[in-house]
Amino acid sequence: MTPKEWSVHNSDGDHRVIVTKALPGTRWLDILVSAACRVEVCTSEDVLTVGEIKERIGESCDGVIGQLTEGWNADLFATLASAGGTAYSNFAVGYNNVDIPAATAAEIPVGNTPGVLTETTAERAVALTFSAGRRIAEADRFMRGGEYVGWRPALFMGTRFDGGTVGVIGAGRIGAAYGRMMVEGHKMNLVYFDLYPNEALEQYIADYSEFLVAHGESPVTTKRVETIEDLLAVSDVVSLHTVLDETTHHLINAERLAVMKSDAILVNSSRGPVIDEDALVAHCRTNPEFTAGLDVFEDEPAMKEGLADLDNVVIVPHIASATKWTREGMATLAAANVAGLLQGYPLWDSDDVLPFLSGDVPRAVPSIVNATELSIE
Ligand code: DGY
Repeated sequence: MTPKEWSVHNSDGDHRVIVTKALPGTRWLDILVSAACRVEVCTSEDVLTVGEIKERIGESCDGVIGQLTEGWNADLFATLASAGGTAYSNFAVGYNNVDIPAATAAEIPVGNTPGVLTETTAERAVALTFSAGRRIAEADRFMRGGEYVGWRPALFMGTRFDGGTVGVIGAGRIGAAYGRMMVEGHKMNLVYFDLYPNEALEQYIADYSEFLVAHGESPVTTKRVETIEDLLAVSDVVSLHTVLDETTHHLINAERLAVMKSDAILVNSSRGPVIDEDALVAHCRTNPEFTAGLDVFEDEPAMKEGLADLDNVVIVPHIASATKWTREGMATLAAANVAGLLQGYPLWDSDDVLPFLSGDVPRAVPSIVNATELSIE
């Protein structure tokens, strides 16, 4: 294994903080340096192994900013705790790569980066929806392959969205933003499945519907369904926005794919294992009218055999949050989590994290997943 390369900033800093990958922007580094941190950044492209992270933590380390590609398990948290570490932040809103009970047992708060990915991720889910339903990637390959010999009446016919039904599984921040974009942009009716009702979303769509009617257009509806099957059976588009845990692993499997309309569109911007990818490959093979847009994969970065050969699947490399504003925002929040914890700041008491992104950095910790368990106020 080639040794990784590291850059060190503010080498005389009082707190040693390890950042396992170079992050976008500069504000995050300024925040850590202003908090008297010595910051060691891994500048190699390869993912660090657990062994390499442990080695780098060494005997003394105060905090780490880690990546969703790293398995933050009990071993790593025990190593960080015995090196004197008191802060960890994921550079992500999702934290299925982090063993939260193990972090809590090691008394290490785990930060994440909510509030800066919402619209960016929802917009990209919309883009995937249209790429799949209007066959954009397939048509692009056709053009580049020199196959276009002139306009034809039935070339690359796709889905009409206007007036159809969009199904959202997981109507939290990102799922709700996606739902609103599809309803407002394309006058679709929304069905959603979530453990909890999203009253704000329902009210928003009810108000929008009134607005449409006032302008002489047809109303739109929203409905929370009791079962995933109820949603799959009626939706022209299904978009996944759940967390990944034992209850959502292979949530979309062969049986549930069979419930979907044969020409439906399935979009996944959550985590790969929410779909049984082998089952999806088999379904797309036998249902050429069915399309899928995938940002995430079950064995990322690998794809299941046959997936890349399917014309009815659009595949992109986990880039749902990839805008400059969002990625720099994520870096800023991750740094503010670690710097805030090391300075003993209280928890930020609002969902609005924008004050962290410009001007004076609030004297607070933006977001800690296990704050309640660790009694962080
Ligand atoms: C996250 O933050 O969880 C995303 O998957 C990164 O894009």
